[in-house]
Amino acid sequence: MGDIVVAHDCARGGEPYTPMTCKVVGISQQTPDVRSFRLQALDGSRPFDALPGQTAMFSVLPYGECMFAVTSRGEDYVELCVKRVGQVTERMHELRVGDEVGLRGPYGNWFPYDSARGRDMLFVAAGIGLPPVRSFLEYCLRHRADYGRIDLVYSASTKADLVYLDELTNVWPGQPDTHVHVSVYHGSDDWDGEVSYSAPFLEKVFAQEGLSPRNACATLCGGASFFRTCLESFTALGYDPGDIVTTLERRMKCGVGKCGRCNIGSHFICLEGPVFTQREVALMGAR
Ligand SMILES: Cc1cc2nc3c(=O)[nH]c(=O)nc-3n(C[C@H](O)[C@H](O)[C@H](O)COP(=O)(O)OP(=O)(O)OC[C@H]3O[C@@H](n4cnc5c(N)ncnc54)[C@H](O)[C@@H]3O)c2cc1C
Ligand code: FES
Repeated sequence: MGDIVVAHDCARGGEPYTPMTCKVVGISQQTPDVRSFRLQALDGSRPFDALPGQTAMFSVLPYGECMFAVTSRGEDYVELCVKRVGQVTERMHELRVGDEVGLRGPYGNWFPYDSARGRDMLFVAAGIGLPPVRSFLEYCLRHRADYGRIDLVYSASTKADLVYLDELTNVWPGQPDTHVHVSVYHGSDDWDGEVSYSAPFLEKVFAQEGLSPRNACATLCGGASFFRTCLESFTALGYDPGDIVTTLERRMKCGVGKCGRCNIGSHFICLEGPVFTQREVALMGAR
């Protein structure tokens, strides 16, 4: 089986710096510090189309702008999921339905939904790593016949930190041949599920479900220690780095290859990424 093929030449023309004014048409509190925002153009249309994995710059004047994955899109909106971590995301969490904001994009490349067709799909995420892979998972569910078995292995610090709890418990497990496995790092009285860190949980799911790296595509997103430990597990489980897909989060300012904030050596992550196979990541020396 050949490597998964990720497109990297995705630089966008037009007016890449100009945000369009959008309005907030929906806000959903996912966890105490994560909210998802539905954004719509002022004329009521969807601001832009985005392929699974693409990103956008979301701005709140006069505080600034940040990059986020486009987690899903509907007929007349795009949705972003924002963790409150600092100056700008703090302001985003103060937004109300009806407020006007800026949005530019879509930027970057996309998950390899074409070359992954026919494979078993394994999504592994931790914490705020689930929103960026959600668009790929939902693409596979919308084109269910094109993919093999689907497994999602998701972990967060506590039950309260699990994003998309409704989808995790009520929506995705009901889809054909789709298996959702959830763990938390710290148990509580109201959690009767798994208590485990991501990598041991991944290995446990792998053994219990009899999963195989043959004809499989694994997609990973989470923090640095999540990546390091899960990649060790993937190596132990026999995965080829060319069959593992990740999305890299570097600090990004312009998003269009001008500011020099996101590079790894000669590679501009905003222009070539953020999606790479683990083989490509290793060649760049990123991790
Ligand atoms: C391609 C891409 C996709 C992203 N998708 C999402 C998403 O779907 N949801 C989401 O909540 N966030 C996402 N992020 C991260 C998001 O852009 C940052 O959290 C945001 O820019 C922080 O802005 P701030 O002004 O609130 O924080 P700041 O005040 O600038 O920083 C606060 C703290 O967060 C850290 N931080 C800031 N940016 C990053 C970053 N890019 N990576 C790691 N640490 C960072 C800083 O080091 C600091 O400790 C993504 C980033 C990239 C590059
Ligand atoms: S974010 Fe400015 S060069 Fe990549």
